[in-house]
Amino acid sequence: MSIRPVTLAALAITIATVIWLVSRWDYSPRGWSEEGVAVLESLWLESLPDLPPDPTNRVADDPRAVEFGRRLFFETRFSANGAISCATCHQPERHFTDGLPKGVAIGVSKRNTPSIVGTAYSPWFYWDGRRDSQWSQALSPLEDSNEHAVNRLTTIAIVVADKDYWRMYKALFGEASSVDTMFSNIGKAIAAFERTIMPMPSRFDRYVAAVVAGDEAQQAAIFTDEEVRGLRLFIGAANCTQCHNGPLLTNNEFHNTGLINFKGEVPDKGRVVGIREVLEQPFNCRGAHSDDPARDCAELDFARTGPELIGAFRTPSLRNLENTAPYGHKGQVATLADMLTHYNEAPDAMIGHNEAKPLGLSKRELANLEAFLRTLAAPASYSDR
Ligand code: HEC
Ligand code: HEC
Repeated sequence: MSIRPVTLAALAITIATVIWLVSRWDYSPRGWSEEGVAVLESLWLESLPDLPPDPTNRVADDPRAVEFGRRLFFETRFSANGAISCATCHQPERHFTDGLPKGVAIGVSKRNTPSIVGTAYSPWFYWDGRRDSQWSQALSPLEDSNEHAVNRLTTIAIVVADKDYWRMYKALFGEASSVDTMFSNIGKAIAAFERTIMPMPSRFDRYVAAVVAGDEAQQAAIFTDEEVRGLRLFIGAANCTQCHNGPLLTNNEFHNTGLINFKGEVPDKGRVVGIREVLEQPFNCRGAHSDDPARDCAELDFARTGPELIGAFRTPSLRNLENTAPYGHKGQVATLADMLTHYNEAPDAMIGHNEAKPLGLSKRELANLEAFLRTLAAPASYSDR
């Protein structure tokens, strides 16, 4: 049986249509499927739930503690040289980071200063999660010999001797009590302030709003084709949302992504050490200074402890990339472009096992991804009465 010309023509037209559709698909990255819209909504700041209460800190949401804590956060007398406050390294105008590879105060910190914006949502603090509440975290820089380099007694003495501070302290916590209780109360006030430090909507969030509203003109006005392509890679082929997911773009988990250290530095063991420390830490959720009578410490009870945590660090939020270079737990990655090259190559880890796989993206695709990441930038909001 021979093929009739009409059939051949129909076949040719079908093939041409398919090729046209495919090329058009590639050319215009704009349309979103229902599934795609759902993924975008999951990353949208609008989807961020209200901040859950912290039962371990009874003043966590008390406005008087926010005010007291804000003053303590900027207090330089809590330091060996009278010049260092939390804001020396966590500078509001830099998204609460310092622009340095590693924090510098009395000495040099072991790691990069992370942004604290939105971290009140995290069950773990520090790159290795060695603290399990914001208030217990706030205590350790004060006694860290590289950071504030004072001790709890000095800290308490300053609060008691300052008429304003002592009035504010007593209104919240009552009269003087044991040193450790008073010290933990100071941490609880600082944490109340830190709970107000939150990301504001970015250009990405406005784009999602336009997608949800089905407003294509708005979408085109907010995002370039390049940025849309980058977003598609981020949630698709590049698989970034495996770890950077939810409205804060972090799963708050620990992963080894094979970042190479500075030359001559011993590889950092990360979470495998952090989990041991937080389990033994006297100010943890199970400790005497938690205000939660139920001692509901599910995060500690169910925390992973396996060898996959060697060289693993907490996934950082990606809403803090503007003004926060260098990146990585040691500040070892100078630019966003370098970070993306790192993910593209996914080298073997120096210690443990790199969970990320090489991506094989082209230069153009990497540029698209970077363009998208930049759309996540927005100023932080915080209580600054
Ligand atoms: C010398 C600079 C420096 C000073 C001063 C400092 N920090 Fe930090 N901060 C860091 C570094 C570095 C880290 C990360 C250390 C690590 O992970 O091992 C960090 C981590 C944190 C984190 C955890 C954030 C996260 O994403 O896990 C919080 C919260 C924080 N600091 C709050 C404070 C508070 C509150 C003070 C004041 C009492 C303070 N810091 C003082 C450098 C500093
Ligand atoms: C397996 C989990 C995982 C995947 C997949 C992943 N990340 Fe990460 N990301 C992390 C962790 C963990 C860190 C911190 C690593 C460190 O410092 O050792 C990080 C750090 C970063 C940083 C630096 C942020 C900072 O403040 O220092 C950027 C930027 C980043 N990732 C972007 C991406 C992009 C883009 C993708 C997709 C190509 C991606 N990540 C895929 C877990 C992941």
